[in-house]
Order: sequence, then structure tokens, then C-alpha cells
Amino acid sequence: MKKINIAIDGPSAAGKGTIADNLAEKLGYIHLDTGAMYRCVALACIRENVPLKDEDKVMEVIKEVEIDQTADGRSFLDGEDVSDEIRLPEVSKGASDVSTLRAVRKDLVRRQKHMAKRKGFILDGRDIGTVVLKNAELKIYLTASVEVRAMRRYKQNLEKGIECDYEEIARQISERDYQDIHRKESPLMKAEDAVEVDTSDLSIEEVTGKVYELAMERIAGVNE
Ligand code: DC
Repeated sequence: MKKINIAIDGPSAAGKGTIADNLAEKLGYIHLDTGAMYRCVALACIRENVPLKDEDKVMEVIKEVEIDQTADGRSFLDGEDVSDEIRLPEVSKGASDVSTLRAVRKDLVRRQKHMAKRKGFILDGRDIGTVVLKNAELKIYLTASVEVRAMRRYKQNLEKGIECDYEEIARQISERDYQDIHRKESPLMKAEDAVEVDTSDLSIEEVTGKVYELAMERIAGVNE
């Protein structure tokens, strides 16, 4: 059975990671979280006190560090498991900052294209359908209102025992949306041939089911 590649784009906290994970499990595909790569770069810069919008200095850091992602979704920076640390608010904002830099995007996009050279990959990010996997057989654009996304993140944090404020989370999400949509380099944008799925009123199971159906249709198409 021939495999396909799937691109999932959309704003922060729209559920891209969860849906990509579920789909990868159901299809036996590999999920690559491209946002985690920008987060690892940001964390490395924060640790080395490098200003996050200084392209030359950030590029020096990228060349020095090793970024890896395992099939079970853990992220490693120079061999250290940083999966939890890269989710901290400071790193989230930092990832959005470094992702505005042209040289950084060029470097990470090259790595992502290389990793997903074969079929059977699900990549989630902001520019997957428009830049990284322009030829993906299925492109999904996942959205949800700011309020719904902030509430999901708020509940997730509480479940993990992380103290947080709903209003503050909503403010941070809006700020990142603005920066991701308005940046010059590969701004967050729905690819022309992407299927938009608004998840505001849908459960994770419903979204997974919908996207799985679309994937099965496309898989059947390439196997005709
Ligand atoms: O998906 P995420 O929230 O983990 O992404 C973190 C930041 O990285 C986000 O603010 C935008 C940026 N990003 C990007 O510009 N391109 C991608 N393919 C993935 C993430």
C-alpha cells in the first residue's frame, strides 16, 4: 500500500500536535513536530543569552547545537530531553521570535524537507502546506477561536499542575497569532489546496475522525 504525506498547519494551540499524534498512530505514520524545532532553537539561545532576533548570533547557536526528535515525540537538545522545558511560556514566545528570521527558517526547512523525503510523514507547523511539503497529498488547516484555544491550554496546564491565568494565556496566544500571521518570512497562511477544519465546537475524537477519513480518501486515491 502506497503511503502519502500529510501537512497540518494552523495557529498556536489549535490541537495540531494532538491530531497529528492520533493520526500517526492510526495510520502507522511518523509525526514530526516542526514547532518543537523552533522551540529548541529558542531554548538554546535563551540558555546562552543570545538575543532572539539577532539573526547572525542565532545562526551561530544553530550550527553548534544538535536538535533531535524521537518517534515517540520527545525533543532533545544536545542529547538532553527538553520536551517539557520547550513548552514554557518564555520559550513559546522565543520560538515565535526566532521563527521570524529568514536564515533560521531556511535552515530548519531544509532539515524538515530532508527528514520527510519519503512518504508516510505527518508534519505540523505553520508553513508545511505552503513551503515544506508543497506536494503533500493531504493538507489540513486547523483553526479554533482564541477563546477556545486559550481554554484548552488553560485546562491542560491545570491538569499538569501548572498554575496559570486564563486571561494571560489568551493574551499570549493572540500575541503569537499576530506575530506568526504578520511576519515577512513564510507567514502562517492556509494553503490554497488545504482543507480547513474549525475545531472550536468539536472534540479531539471528532477532529481525529474527520481528518482520518480525509486521509483514507487520499490514500485510496494514490492506490487506485
Ligand atoms: O507549533 P508551535 O506552537 O510549537 O510553534 C512554536 C512557534 O514556532 C510558533 O510561534 C511559530 C513557529 N513555527 C513556524 O514558524 N513554523 C513552523 N513550521 C512551526 C512553528
